[in-house]
Amino acid sequence: MASCLCRYRRRILFFCSPCILLLPIYIYVSTSLIYVMKHGAPGVPPVLQTHFTASGLKFSGDLAPHPVKAFWRSELNSGAQWNIIQYMTDTQHNPILKPRLAANPPGISYKTERSRRSGNGCSPDYEISNTMPDFFNLPTQMKDFVTSMHCREYPLIIDALDVCDGGPLAKKRAPTLLLAIKTQPADFVNREAIRETWGCSGRIKSRGGRQRLVRRVFLLGKSKDLHIEEKLQLESDTYGDIIQWEFMDTFFNLTLKDVLFWDWFSRRCTHARFIFKGDDDIFVRTPALLDYLLAEEANGFRSNKMEAFVVGDVINSAAPVRSNGSKYYIPESFFKGVYPSYPGGGGVVYSGSLAHRLLEVSQKVHLFPIDDVYLGMCLQRLGVYPIHHPAFLTFDFPKDEPKEPCAYHTILLVHKRSPAEMFQLWTETSMPSSECRNATLRVKTRVEFR
Ligand SMILES: *[C@@H]1O[C@H](CO)[C@@H](O)[C@H](O)[C@H]1NC(C)=O
Ligand SMILES: *[C@@H]1O[C@H](CO)[C@@H](O)[C@H](O)[C@H]1NC(C)=O
Ligand SMILES: *[C@@H]1O[C@H](CO)[C@@H](O)[C@H](O)[C@H]1NC(C)=O
Repeated sequence: MASCLCRYRRRILFFCSPCILLLPIYIYVSTSLIYVMKHGAPGVPPVLQTHFTASGLKFSGDLAPHPVKAFWRSELNSGAQWNIIQYMTDTQHNPILKPRLAANPPGISYKTERSRRSGNGCSPDYEISNTMPDFFNLPTQMKDFVTSMHCREYPLIIDALDVCDGGPLAKKRAPTLLLAIKTQPADFVNREAIRETWGCSGRIKSRGGRQRLVRRVFLLGKSKDLHIEEKLQLESDTYGDIIQWEFMDTFFNLTLKDVLFWDWFSRRCTHARFIFKGDDDIFVRTPALLDYLLAEEANGFRSNKMEAFVVGDVINSAAPVRSNGSKYYIPESFFKGVYPSYPGGGGVVYSGSLAHRLLEVSQKVHLFPIDDVYLGMCLQRLGVYPIHHPAFLTFDFPKDEPKEPCAYHTILLVHKRSPAEMFQLWTETSMPSSECRNATLRVKTRVEFR
């Protein structure tokens, strides 16, 4: 009997001693778990990093916004017209999702660009008013935009045929820089001033002394004034630098100039190394710009980054303007969200190889009424981050900055300048005084606004 008990005691001891040893650990873990569940984790709460630094071609020191929401959350429920159409376009181009789902997203009966285009061509689509509850309260330019935004194919009225060489020597004789200037039919004086100053076509001596080929085109829509249209035809006969398309030249139609220009470029000036795209009321220091671009190219060729090269006055995490009276007004029923980083449309430079990629990706990005934001949307889809350069003054010199004697010798471009000022600045910067000869490009960055 005694030996039997003894045998059991040994067994009990054998099985239970580890349990007894583990008991305190078990108690500790459960009490801490209960404590954490009741009071939250002790110590410092986790800090959400609000910025990360994106790598451009060159470290620019700028901060890009940290994504606020999960990137996979669809905007489908937001009820904003652009977001819905873009969602459908994205699904259509997504090889993983079923095409059936793309064709009939749950609970939506909107037409996409393609289906509408095949339906009623490029005539205005007034049915859109059924899907935007506040359509009849929108400003006229917004109404005009949404009724015609399914169309981006407009024929040329005037073409610039001889700006770039075609044929076997096209590559060899390609311009280093092609200036593509947005202008309206009535702005004859601006175009004339640009031709005689910073937009001079031909071999331009960069400040480093090298000769580089620069070419120029003006991008226009049409005007209602027949007299102006006639004068424009004469202007084209004289200079051959006019490209005009069959759409009304209005502010909200500016994006058409981008997408149609990319198409023109891919056919008529394929080999240009850089494209400057900007307004007709700015001043550009073209020789200095050439120097800057050639230096960037020398750096970029080694790392093969030219096809992601775009530089300008980069605006980060701007939100749509929601005040009814503004020229930039975008209603919530049209677009929700924050704009991607984009270079201000006053003047931006990108590589020719990037322009070809932009043409391609733009087929998958629904038209947006503000042209520089649209460029930002396309760049985002390409995963290209625009380089910010403080010498692109698309918002002029900061108001509170003291005027320095050589200020204009430190910039690449400045907005806004009249034709008379263009002549004066061109003379001044082409023949710098000895004191300004050594001026270098500015590095001061403005404080963000808009
Ligand atoms: C915009 O303002 C006008 C008057 O200033 C008003 O009639 C209209 O309803 C407003 N539209 C929206 C969408 O708020
Ligand atoms: C853009 O041009 C088209 C074609 O001329 C026109 O129907 C439409 O109203 C214009 N859009 C804007 C916003 O002016
Ligand atoms: C400009 O630079 C050159 C050489 O880099 C120098 O010899 C000259 O003194 C400088 N001029 C001024 C005004 O700083």
